[in-house]
Amino acid sequence: MSLTRREFLAAPAALAATSLLPTGLLAAVAAETPALPDLSSWERIRAQFTLDPSYAHFASFFIASHPEPVRAAIDGYRRAMDRNPFHIIEQGLFEDDAHNVPLQVQTEIADYLGGRAQEVCLTGNTTTGLALVYHGLPLQLGDEVLCTTHDHYSHHESIRLATARAGASMRKIKLFDEAATATTESIIDALLKDIGPKTRVVGLTWVHSSSGIRLPIREIASALRARSNPGLVLVVDGVHGIGATDETIATLGCDYFCAGTHKWMFAPRGTGLVWANADNWARLRPTIPSFSDLDQYTAWEQDIVPTSPNNANRMMPGGFHAYEHQWATAAAFAMHKQMGRARVAARIRSLNDQCKAGLAANPKVTLHTPMSGDLSAGLVAFEVAGVKPLDVVKQLLAKRIIASTSPYAITYARLAPSLVNTPEQVERAVRAVREISG
Ligand SMILES: Cc1ncc(COP(=O)(O)O)c(C=O)c1O
Repeated sequence: MSLTRREFLAAPAALAATSLLPTGLLAAVAAETPALPDLSSWERIRAQFTLDPSYAHFASFFIASHPEPVRAAIDGYRRAMDRNPFHIIEQGLFEDDAHNVPLQVQTEIADYLGGRAQEVCLTGNTTTGLALVYHGLPLQLGDEVLCTTHDHYSHHESIRLATARAGASMRKIKLFDEAATATTESIIDALLKDIGPKTRVVGLTWVHSSSGIRLPIREIASALRARSNPGLVLVVDGVHGIGATDETIATLGCDYFCAGTHKWMFAPRGTGLVWANADNWARLRPTIPSFSDLDQYTAWEQDIVPTSPNNANRMMPGGFHAYEHQWATAAAFAMHKQMGRARVAARIRSLNDQCKAGLAANPKVTLHTPMSGDLSAGLVAFEVAGVKPLDVVKQLLAKRIIASTSPYAITYARLAPSLVNTPEQVERAVRAVREISG
């Protein structure tokens, strides 16, 4: 944005106050915030978390425990805001680009995604991102949004609410009967054969929290482009892929990528993002007034509608937020950059491979997650013969192992080995399942 944001949302009283604005407030926060620690070993990485050590935590993907660099960033911003909320937030939001903190967050995220800062919209979670995208799409009477039976409640309901409003329809298809035996080809075939002449949008989930399968989004996107309706839009719920896989998300081939960053990325609770390129942002209609788009604000001042194309900032839900959390998102992405995306993904894959191999060796266990690391990520979904999934989870808890059940009509037990776990803990979990299965 070329114009200073200083004027943005600045009522006359606030404008007068800005001339008194102490400079360098945020620089002082940054100076107080410790540099990233040594993250060269898994032990050091695990030491960043204050998780209760009397449990083995295999449900960290549910919502993040903040690691030390994120806690430090939150604390730094919080202290500063508690000292001087008006100046810190006013400066951080509406100062020129060099001092704009959301822009710094967008820049850090874009670097991880392989995209551009202007392509990143900050949201509060995956759910908000999905709702903003589906409600923003110019759906017409009779259009169809195709999704799958495997998607999350937040995804289905975003589509249902948006299509109902537009007079469009939604249809859910099965990509497979059993995730564990699905292949890239079978998934693509199942999807393509169900795309009809009215299908305008396809909604998919990257890593399914129902079964742990990871859809081959890159291959699916290129098949859709080559063999389906021109202009078809692909929306991806990517929350369990980001931070768990080694992918350049901005080049995956989807049109809209929605994710919470408060799961695998370890960003503060209540943070998320939508990534799309400029053309795809331009085709959306915003739902919530933004506090981050000067054109929208000046158009409002002039009592006209904005004439410039819609963009990621205009889609960013306005109103004030828990900025110490939103702004500390940058620390989580910086931490991931320092750990290394490929290294993180390899570690998660190796722990999950170990978990799957251990469970698969148990004849009483049915694995629902594909064995292949190319079609899975950090979630292992399984059943134990004769024991309900909730009872598996309860019995694991009694052994101080935290697992979870999948929140779907058909539910499975889940273990999600992640950076907070060790191979020894995975072994312990596998052994515990063996004891439960009798
Ligand atoms: C696949 C999937 N999508 C969306 C969500 C909702 O995520 P959020 O809390 O970031 O909205 C979840 C929750 O775990 C999920 O598993």
